[in-house]
Amino acid sequence: AVIHRGDYTAPAYWIDTVDLSFDLDPAKTRVLNKMTLRRNPDVEAGPLRLDGEELNLARVLVNGQGTSFKMENNQLVLENLPEGHEPFALEIFTTCAPVKNTKLMGLYVSNESFFTQCEAEGFRRITYFLDRPDVMAMYTVTLRADKAKYPVLLSNGNLVEHGTLEDGRHFAKWVDPHKKPSYLFALVAGQLVAREQRITSRAGKEHLLQVYVRPGDLDKTEHAMNSLMASVAWDEARFGLPLDLERFMIVATSDFNMGAMENKGLNIFNTKYVLANQATATDVDYSNIESVVGHEYFHNWTGNRITCRDWFQLSLKEGLTVFRDQEFSQDLCAEPSARAVKRIEDVRVLRTAQFPEDAGPMAHPVRPDSYIEINNFYTVTIYEKGAEVVRMMQTLTSRVGFAKGMTLYFERFDGQAVTCDDFAQSIADANPDSALAKLLPQFKRWYSQAGTPRLAARGEYDAAAQTYTLHFTQSCAPTPGQVAKEPFVIPVSLGLVGATSHTDTQLFVMTEAAQSLTFNNVTEEPVPSILRGFSAPVVLDFDYTDAQLLTLLANDPDPFNRWEAGQRLALRSAINCIAAGAYSTGATPLNDAYIDAMRAVLRHPTLDAAFKELVLTLPSETYIAEQLDVVDPQRIHAVREAMRLQLATALQADWEWAFDAHQYNGAYEPDPVSSGRRALAGLALTFLNLAAVQSGDTVWPGKTLQRFKDAGNMTDRFNALAALVGSGHALAAQALARFHALFKDEALVLDKWFALQAGTSDRGGQVLPAVRQLMAHPDFNLRNPNRARSVIFSYCSANPGGFHRADAAGYVFWADRVMELDGINPQVAARLARALDRWKKLAEPYRSAAREALVRVAAKVDLSNDVREVVDRALAD
Ligand code: ARG
Ligand code: ZN
Repeated sequence: AVIHRGDYTAPAYWIDTVDLSFDLDPAKTRVLNKMTLRRNPDVEAGPLRLDGEELNLARVLVNGQGTSFKMENNQLVLENLPEGHEPFALEIFTTCAPVKNTKLMGLYVSNESFFTQCEAEGFRRITYFLDRPDVMAMYTVTLRADKAKYPVLLSNGNLVEHGTLEDGRHFAKWVDPHKKPSYLFALVAGQLVAREQRITSRAGKEHLLQVYVRPGDLDKTEHAMNSLMASVAWDEARFGLPLDLERFMIVATSDFNMGAMENKGLNIFNTKYVLANQATATDVDYSNIESVVGHEYFHNWTGNRITCRDWFQLSLKEGLTVFRDQEFSQDLCAEPSARAVKRIEDVRVLRTAQFPEDAGPMAHPVRPDSYIEINNFYTVTIYEKGAEVVRMMQTLTSRVGFAKGMTLYFERFDGQAVTCDDFAQSIADANPDSALAKLLPQFKRWYSQAGTPRLAARGEYDAAAQTYTLHFTQSCAPTPGQVAKEPFVIPVSLGLVGATSHTDTQLFVMTEAAQSLTFNNVTEEPVPSILRGFSAPVVLDFDYTDAQLLTLLANDPDPFNRWEAGQRLALRSAINCIAAGAYSTGATPLNDAYIDAMRAVLRHPTLDAAFKELVLTLPSETYIAEQLDVVDPQRIHAVREAMRLQLATALQADWEWAFDAHQYNGAYEPDPVSSGRRALAGLALTFLNLAAVQSGDTVWPGKTLQRFKDAGNMTDRFNALAALVGSGHALAAQALARFHALFKDEALVLDKWFALQAGTSDRGGQVLPAVRQLMAHPDFNLRNPNRARSVIFSYCSANPGGFHRADAAGYVFWADRVMELDGINPQVAARLARALDRWKKLAEPYRSAAREALVRVAAKVDLSNDVREVVDRALAD
């Protein structure tokens, strides 16, 4: 059934308190749920409808007495409840089977321990409840379990009592001092150990921080703990938001659908975003851990203290919290250039994942109007585009003004379940003279209109008058259900770059369909640097000449646009070559000016290594595909490979220099400067091996294998392995075997081993057979989401050259896996189903073959709602 935002009504009942008792048993867990409820005086009287899924109901008592009830779909319906507005007691006894829970929603077992995941609608798989975020209650939780098997028993809040019971069992009682919606409930039980840290807040309060992992993993928790301490300090310093709990726990599990979950006081994380030491984790892993630990911690205020009224408001907490974690990571950078690197990385995610979503069948506004399955709306639009919307609010009110807006938001709504409107209004009201306040209704179109706006600009220089005018127009293509769009408020940060001088950055706020901006006293024709720092999530069309882009690449004081100029040059060469069909072996799509510019960046005396690595990385195949109306994935792959080979050979001496110049001695540190050096050295190694395979040289592959063997950290080791595997050199097999032997007991490292092979560059169709073999490997397990993603998603979603085969075998594989996974875990299956979102853009024979695969999945009778919604939307016209 389709759920519409406009149909929201307040609940007919409120739940004030919940007292849950669990007798934990993998096969049959007993759950006693004692609640106090009362009728909502603002709503017409009606029956109580409690959500429940895959539960065995044993008993229902109202005020201690048996009562009549009925089941309607997945709801327990109670009609004969006490009249009036007095609270009454409701007691429900159910059982469930955590060990059979392969969906990993609700209560499930992983590695012999119990975990929960309740967002968005998992609590109803634990007990009957008003499982909606606007029902906020106080929770008391008692856990009982076998003491030897489950020595650690955790839930939200504070541990108030614990002790032993008969038959080798024990118990723990937890009380959460904050009311919360059911999606923030959590419990954990198992054999776990914790790294602990006591901290004192600015206000002088003591807190206990804990990171729980399986016993062998304690040596991989230091970075997560450091990230947590940094998060606590940052939220207090930047937004005045302190930790409001005596105890804050993070628990890692290796079976998890998403990245992590912000349950009040008891965050549950995918191990991928907790565990790290230098031998097993890369610099990218370290940086992701910092972001995700920050993200979940920041939810404690933006999400938990103030939550969402309904799931259409999801971006209220997610967009805001992504914005906060991005700001956190930037603020942790010591150098301003490292902040720019982080910004470029974030924009790259937005443009390669969110822009395609916004242009495809699943396009939806940041605040959607309808959904079938809410789990399908934990998207890059809600998260990353939502973060850009919040960032624009900060741009339109200033950093200080935005912080004032946050303070007002908490003054108004702390402890409540609210809407995106409430948030935007708070930011505007705290800044009455800001552009945001003046334009608020129009600004809010960012919440209601889907699709990526296009901002087109044209420059006009009048030498006699010494003026330069930029003429802007904006437009936005139709998206499903939204044919016509009204103009957006687009904050355009810009400046003019001349041969010898440049203007300061200024903010131009675009509000009309067409608008112009004139600069005076411009003595030479400048190059406009538009959308600095990517000040709005739009596509900028400006007909730059190559010479203008080379000027920006060399001279723009804005690092984002400097990087962008290089990307535009590479993109242009790629598109020209694709259009010309000149992609046979030996093609040289890149011109000398570009190669020389890349050499100049690589050898630049003052730019950081991390920035150089970004500039020298070509736009991805996915990003190139987005710029084309008709996509031939094989042609894109061939052209991009030709460009890589050209960069490898034309700059060979420079890559040799870069590799040698970015070595370091001394201890491993994951900071931005050292990780930037490793990233650039890694890129150099990739190119050196590509060039070596081309020329038949054996020196660099040999050196790479040696580095692989000697590396003192996973970043260098994995980069060496990836360089060998990516080049197709014969030494790759030996390195892969050794890597597997070294890390056979490290699940997260094995995921990398699988992902590298499934994601490697396709040379004549070898990847799909390799993927099939990987799935038959004894270490493969379809039920473990990380492992399934490492093989299947790395191939179907991250390897366009391998996946889009002219013989359709990639699509057949995809359809089989979607259907197979759907029987196990619909959420993971629905994510995989998104791999064919952009099928309509494909050239033949890909287009027809992709459609056939989609039709085959759609024809399956017992498909989950999750996959059904994705494939039906893909096939709709
Ligand atoms: N709120 C979590 C986060 O952003 C994500 C939970 C997603 N859960 C889901 N079932 N889709 O950190
Ligand atoms: Zn989140």
